Amino acid sequence: MSRLSAGHPSGGPIGAETAPPSRNWRKALLSVHIATAVGVLGTDAVLLALGIAGMRGSSPETVYPAASLVGTWLVAPLALTALATGALLGVSTKWGLVRYWWVAIKLGITFVLNVILFLALVPLLSNLADKATAGDALTTADRMPALVAPIAAVTLLSLNVVLAVFKPRWRIGSATG
Ligand code: HEM
Repeated sequence: MSRLSAGHPSGGPIGAETAPPSRNWRKALLSVHIATAVGVLGTDAVLLALGIAGMRGSSPETVYPAASLVGTWLVAPLALTALATGALLGVSTKWGLVRYWWVAIKLGITFVLNVILFLALVPLLSNLADKATAGDALTTADRMPALVAPIAAVTLLSLNVVLAVFKPRWRIGSATG
């Protein structure tokens, strides 16, 4: 049997033990993407737990400063990194950004969540934390957004995970899949 036809024990051709650098970069990017994307889901779940505690009457001067810290220093940077790494993965792979519905939907969901997070949720949690620390009374209407926003985020981010794992083959602008 010739050296070439014998092949590598792994089943690949001889000399194919190490992945090419471009594949290693893609795997590194994918690792950062998965870690940060699943991190946003986890930290949003923490916000949800705090939102429930706040609605159930737990001490606001504990709940809302904690929620503000988690929102500002964990959820916000993780969400931005998940969006950026996801977009980079899209443009640098066969998936594209608007070639497949699952990628386009994830892009839309993640972009909208980032806008709401930076323009509404982070300022709102900071405001709640200030009021709670100052001892101001917080109405149910004041507390409600700190519960509703994480419920929406956890639901939509879970959908993102399902889309990423199943990768439905529906293409945008093509009936052939
Ligand atoms: C926070 C929101 C997001 C979550 C929870 C999420 C989750 C995930 C997960 C778990 C994977 C790994 C799937 C696998 O390897 O089988 C993945 C891969 C991927 N994600 Fe995301 N993602 C998010 C945002 C985005 C965004 C905004 C984009 C770009 C538009 C994107 C594009 C991709 C692509 C293209 C892959 C596949 C990479 C590959 O296999 O080559 N993701 N995502």
